[in-house]
Amino acid sequence: MRTLLLSLVVLFFSLVKGLSPNCNIQDQGSTLQVIHVNSPCSPFRPKTPLSWQDNVLQMQSKDKARLQYLSSLVASKSIVPIASGRTITQNPTYIVRAKIGTPPQTLLLAVDTSNDAAWVPCTGCVGCSSTTMVFDSANSTTFKTVDCSADQCKQVPNPTCAGTTCGFNKTYGGSAFAANLVQDTLVLATDPVPGYTFGCIQTSTGSSLPAQGLLGLGRGPLSLLSQTDSLYKSTFSYCLPGYKSTNFSGSLRLGPIGQPKKIKYTQLLKNPRRSSLYYVNLMAIKVGNKVVDIPATAFAFDPSTGAGTVIDSGTIFTNLVKAAYIPVRDEFRRRMGNATVTSLGGFDTCYIVPITIPSITFIFSGMNVTLPQDNFIIRSTAGTTSCLAMAGAADNVNSVLNVIANFQQQNHRILIDVPNSKLGVARETCS
Ligand SMILES: *[C@@H]1O[C@H](CO)[C@@H](O)[C@H](O)[C@H]1NC(C)=O
Ligand SMILES: *[C@@H]1O[C@H](CO)[C@@H](O)[C@H](O)[C@H]1NC(C)=O
Ligand SMILES: *[C@@H]1O[C@H](CO)[C@@H](O)[C@H](O)[C@H]1NC(C)=O
Ligand SMILES: *[C@@H]1O[C@H](CO)[C@@H](O)[C@H](O)[C@H]1NC(C)=O
Ligand SMILES: *[C@@H]1O[C@H](CO)[C@@H](O)[C@H](O)[C@H]1NC(C)=O
Repeated sequence: MRTLLLSLVVLFFSLVKGLSPNCNIQDQGSTLQVIHVNSPCSPFRPKTPLSWQDNVLQMQSKDKARLQYLSSLVASKSIVPIASGRTITQNPTYIVRAKIGTPPQTLLLAVDTSNDAAWVPCTGCVGCSSTTMVFDSANSTTFKTVDCSADQCKQVPNPTCAGTTCGFNKTYGGSAFAANLVQDTLVLATDPVPGYTFGCIQTSTGSSLPAQGLLGLGRGPLSLLSQTDSLYKSTFSYCLPGYKSTNFSGSLRLGPIGQPKKIKYTQLLKNPRRSSLYYVNLMAIKVGNKVVDIPATAFAFDPSTGAGTVIDSGTIFTNLVKAAYIPVRDEFRRRMGNATVTSLGGFDTCYIVPITIPSITFIFSGMNVTLPQDNFIIRSTAGTTSCLAMAGAADNVNSVLNVIANFQQQNHRILIDVPNSKLGVARETCS
């Protein structure tokens, strides 16, 4: 018994390829450690660290693909292909550990609040990253494929049938993949979820897929929320660690137990046409003590066009429609007096001189969130350049959607309470 246990432990650790030993912190209860993709604990961290500028530009280019993806969701049309000749990877920013199969195989899944289904690369996948773990279904005694006639097969986009096995094709960012719909035991922290339905990727093209797979935290069909409703009651919270303090980890807490009591709430809105997205009612933005003059149409929630504001874990920098961004930026600049404005990639409000930074407050229905400076100013390592870390929608994307992104959420606990249609925000230092 002891040897079996020991060999299972050894197997478990050896599966987490490329992780340094002090990164093997065990997840407890229903709480998972959330790590930044560039953390020393992440096998996906860059081999050679980028310069600050290149890092910012790379994050912005990832956002471009992400925003295009979110806009395509909203517009219900397929993704505009990203300009060829340049590889834009859209590896999401934050990852968690999950165990799949019996005996468990550990995979590092990207968390994505704007996607429903989970999917992982499977053995034999053509076009998946060869340097990371893939799920080997042949090694799992609890693995099953989903039949074409099963209800779950009706919930995937564009289902296909190979024999009696249900499959589907999907685009994600600039990538497309074909997967079989399968079921196996999923263990999150110490909670087993038997018969979890997910996609087992067989073919992948493009470079946007997260290397080891994705855990969709949306609330549509086949999402974690809908498959674990009796266990987690469609309630979860997360705290994302700062992108600079990569040594730290945040947390993803599943279920109503242990959620913060002292937290401000705003109403969570549901767009029946885009059930996976978490819409909120952003009403205004304050710079310093001034509520910026922004037309109400810039924020209005409209389920038929997809317009409004979503909270997203996968976009890095908050992106506002132009009618909202330009007045915010202009007010911010006005407060800088005549300091010379420069730009850096998609950031158009940067300063290379020391500046006194005004506060920024997002005014939601029922909740005001004043951001700490680290949530809206990005500073160069040497401290010589500071940029307003937000942007206006690019001209070439469908710009009806405001996206409150992860840079703005770092070191805050975001609580999603679907049964009560509430979204909570509280400051929490998780890095
Ligand atoms: C699956 O089993 C084979 C044979 O026992 C082994 O070589 C391989 O490493 C296993 N793969 C995983 C992912 O556990
Ligand atoms: C799905 O993707 C596979 C592999 O890329 C392709 O062979 C197949 O034609 C696609 N099916 C549909 C319905 O698009
Ligand atoms: C992060 O961890 C590494 C290795 O453990 C250490 O060398 C480094 O100083 C740490 N960085 C910070 C910012 O704590
Ligand atoms: C900005 O520059 C103009 C013209 O040089 C000057 O009149 C004005 O007082 C300056 N404003 C501030 C806030 O320094
Ligand atoms: C949010 O701020 C606005 C403008 O300062 C104020 O009118 C409103 O009462 C505040 N709302 C809450 C819930 O604090």
